[in-house]
Amino acid sequence: MSEKEGTISALMTEDRRYAPAAEFTSHANWSDPEVYQRALGDPEGFWSEMARAIDWFEDWDTVLEWDPPTTKWFLGARVNVSYNCVDRHLKTWRKNKAAIIWEGEPGDTRVLTYQELYREVNRCAAAMRRLGVQKGDRVALYLGMVPELPIAMLACARLGAPHTVVFGGFSPESLRDRIVDCHAKLLVTADGAWRRGKVVDLKGNADRALEGCPSIENVLVVNRVAPPEQASMVEGRDRWWHDEMDASGTDTVEPESLDSEHPLYILYTSGTTGKPKGLLHTTGGYLVGVHTTAKYVFDLKDEDTYWCAADVGWVTGHSYIVYGPLSNGASSIMYEGAPDYPGKNRFWQIIEKYRANILYTAPTAIRAFMKWGAEHPAGHDLSSLRLLGTVGEPINPEAWVWYRDNIGSGRTPVVDTWWQTETGMTLITPLPGMTVLKPGSATFPFPGVEADIVDEAGESVPLGGGGYLVLKRPWPAMARTIWGDAERWYDQYWSQFPGIYFTGDGAKRDEDGYFWLLGRVDDVLNVAGHRIGTMEVESALVSHPSVAEAAVIGINHEIKGQAIGAFVTLRGDQAASPELITELKLHVGEKIGPIARPDTLIPTGELPKTRSGKIMRRLLRDVAEGRVVGDTTTLQDPGVLDAIKDKYEETE
Ligand code: WTA
Repeated sequence: MSEKEGTISALMTEDRRYAPAAEFTSHANWSDPEVYQRALGDPEGFWSEMARAIDWFEDWDTVLEWDPPTTKWFLGARVNVSYNCVDRHLKTWRKNKAAIIWEGEPGDTRVLTYQELYREVNRCAAAMRRLGVQKGDRVALYLGMVPELPIAMLACARLGAPHTVVFGGFSPESLRDRIVDCHAKLLVTADGAWRRGKVVDLKGNADRALEGCPSIENVLVVNRVAPPEQASMVEGRDRWWHDEMDASGTDTVEPESLDSEHPLYILYTSGTTGKPKGLLHTTGGYLVGVHTTAKYVFDLKDEDTYWCAADVGWVTGHSYIVYGPLSNGASSIMYEGAPDYPGKNRFWQIIEKYRANILYTAPTAIRAFMKWGAEHPAGHDLSSLRLLGTVGEPINPEAWVWYRDNIGSGRTPVVDTWWQTETGMTLITPLPGMTVLKPGSATFPFPGVEADIVDEAGESVPLGGGGYLVLKRPWPAMARTIWGDAERWYDQYWSQFPGIYFTGDGAKRDEDGYFWLLGRVDDVLNVAGHRIGTMEVESALVSHPSVAEAAVIGINHEIKGQAIGAFVTLRGDQAASPELITELKLHVGEKIGPIARPDTLIPTGELPKTRSGKIMRRLLRDVAEGRVVGDTTTLQDPGVLDAIKDKYEETE
């Protein structure tokens, strides 16, 4: 039994149970478990019933066309996501309701009502159109957490121009790769972003990226950090966002009536090769999926002030800061900065200030809050909170219980939501009005979702057992393909088990049918809730002139879940100086972004390889985590490991 297996078996003996409070259930959006049976009996009927909550310009004639790996939802329907997130609320009392409540890191604030959001989205769409953006063109967005980001996303959706949001922490090279891969025509960026009181030089990074991006014709620059005259603008290419918005005046742009399967966005994520993959999400099904899950998983009500503390650069921000909440007419808080700036109580200040009712964040953040101490939340009135959520990585029961006790006053449900960039929407999650919670378990598949755990042969594993997490039926918000690489889409997700979607995650189900997520079973790491491919980091390392070979693994980490460990062999007679080690770590940060910088980097004479030359990462993990080294019989040279072990112990 591996250590991971051991941990999960211990987890499954967790005997604390949290039934929903009667008070919560009596007001919950869903409280009758009958919904599971109904959805199971007729999934297509269930999803078309859910789809009635969306405003369609034209109805569909077929709910689902499924020919794995190709899936289409609501065929023949016409719809616009921007219309559903903005325009339709103007016909109701929500017109002057807060849509986005934005808190800047330095403490400045901005609140956009739905009417104001409508104006901004239209002005932005008009500006994009003047710059030549048409239906089908790709637009890259490289911004910090500022209101201009959702505004630009909704403007793209209005025009039918798929956006690709690139996380503001990514390097120029990562930005360039993404722009080149999808041939974006326009880039929207900013003169900088605030992070821990310092400026992230987005514009400088963008300028470097654009040295190799011939598809980009124009750049719109949001002025966020310094007087405009301090920015270096490239004549004929760069324009200020505020000038273009002014030039739009009160122009409006009719939302395009789009086919249900029209592309909405491309979002890049790490996989098992060195090259990130662009998951393509489309319009109608995605909207139905995120609208429905936002409403029922968060029990979202019109009176709520809802806060998802993720970054819009990741899928969580796309689905649960922007499209899910806004299509529901919710008031969504958006915070620009770090959770510990200027103090470790920043989140609790924000909750108290806005009387937030719902908080959705990552286990990494929760573990950091635990470490910083309960006195920080205790110093604030958090009594407005009525529901908590987590996403991005497995949550350990201690963190779950701490979260509920210290943030949720020992009273709120905690929804642990499992999903992926590929799935678009939450798929395994409690329903807070009915699910009896077990700390550490994401509980059950959402109604209309058929998840299973299978063995190598694709056979369903009985309750109590573990294996690969798969999805046996399509769901509306699933990605449709990998942009420009249909073959990889098939290989990665559909080739292991015919007709079934393979998640890349391992999971177990206990005797009561609860799902317990075990983490990735492939060469993808989850560092502080961010997906990073070991191959990506390895490619970055070997691009350094001193490195001959590299192997990267995940190492258990108290706060981040996993940390990055790298083993490298150096070229020629390069000496492994501490300076070189630091330089190599920084080099990875420059190549990919600071989140990919290895925590530990060990130079070694050789790497453990099989006779066919495959690096045995499993053995490196054993060394790094101090375990008795596993089966080494297939190693070409078993002596290599002892040398690495000695090196590793020296470094620790
Ligand atoms: C992991 C983030 C356990 C999982 C929405 C998945 C989780 C990957 C959970 C997707 C959870 C996400 N419990 N593991 N509640 N949520 N994961 O694409 O390994 O950034 O495959 O999407 O994160 O990461 P991604």
